Amino acid sequence: MRIAVLGATGFIGSRLGQAILDRGDQLFVLTRNVSKGQAMFPTAAVVDWGDDRSVSTALASCDAVVNLAGRSITDPWTKKVKEEIYHSRIDTTKRLVNFLANLEKRPPVLVNASAIGYYGSSLTAQFDESSPKGKGFLADVCGDWEASADGASQLGMRVVKIRIGIVLDRGGGALGRILPIFQLGLGGVIGSGDQWFSWIHREDLVRLILFAIDGSEVKGVLNGTAPQPVTNREFTEVLAQQLKRLAILPVPALALKLAFGEGASVLLEGQKVIPRRPVELGFSFLTPELPQAITKVCQGMN
Ligand SMILES: NC(=O)c1ccc[n+]([C@@H]2O[C@H](COP(=O)([O-])OP(=O)(O)OC[C@H]3O[C@@H](n4cnc5c(N)ncnc54)[C@H](OP(=O)(O)O)[C@@H]3O)[C@@H](O)[C@H]2O)c1
Repeated sequence: MRIAVLGATGFIGSRLGQAILDRGDQLFVLTRNVSKGQAMFPTAAVVDWGDDRSVSTALASCDAVVNLAGRSITDPWTKKVKEEIYHSRIDTTKRLVNFLANLEKRPPVLVNASAIGYYGSSLTAQFDESSPKGKGFLADVCGDWEASADGASQLGMRVVKIRIGIVLDRGGGALGRILPIFQLGLGGVIGSGDQWFSWIHREDLVRLILFAIDGSEVKGVLNGTAPQPVTNREFTEVLAQQLKRLAILPVPALALKLAFGEGASVLLEGQKVIPRRPVELGFSFLTPELPQAITKVCQGMN
């Protein structure tokens, strides 16, 4: 297959791009940073996202498109950062759909990222793909992001939207930031520790994206989370045990709010999300339980 990926230079996309090449498919990296794309994927076709003609030619030749592009949400949420979080996703997706609309022959499938922030947060509710959109900035971003991707359904394409949970692996994402703190013995529960932490190992997320590309019957929303979400307290215990470190220094909610402003809600509030549709569709997780995932990530670190 010929597969175009936006965001292939990122934490999830880099692993996806490698998996695409490993299975013998052709990778098209659509990026704002051509030299970075070429350095990361010397055997891929790297296309400048700002060059309309090249983007159209590349998309017209592809069998699938994956859209993972979006500015990181981990910086403190100033007004400007919030605008960038929003526009980097919604404007990019609309631009992509616009390119697709103008093609005579278009790829049959678009797999578009979304996030479990769609559901809002709750200590008690359990969310699956049929749950309604929640309230708050991230829920609104995800709602508009998914609606923008749905533009491709109106073009007759199969659209799969993956509401991604907290992606775990070394070298990036949430765990990439937390691990060094825990290794120093400075980790601990965040806020009350009762908030839900719906995670997925990066390898399983990449497998789910490929499953969505390949399965001609797969469309609509899939939750990209492992079947066994945990609370922040459970997560902290498993990580400390694996690293053989104490995790007794709680991170107070107030400190996070001072550091991250409204963005602290991502760490202090969570949601319990179940991947009902992937399981129903026959997707099998290689790493369904957190201790396994943490063991994989921490291999060779003690
Ligand atoms: N990691 C997680 O735990 C997680 C959880 C839920 C949802 N997601 C979603 O999954 C997607 C990929 O996540 P990731 O962790 O791989 O993200 P990442 O490492 O931050 O990479 C995202 C990619 O988006 C592009 N990008 C960055 N800023 C942009 C901007 N201002 N405008 C347009 N494009 C921009 C970049 O590609 P180029 O520089 O090559 O253009 C970058 O490589 C994101 O949309 C994210 O919201 C991730």
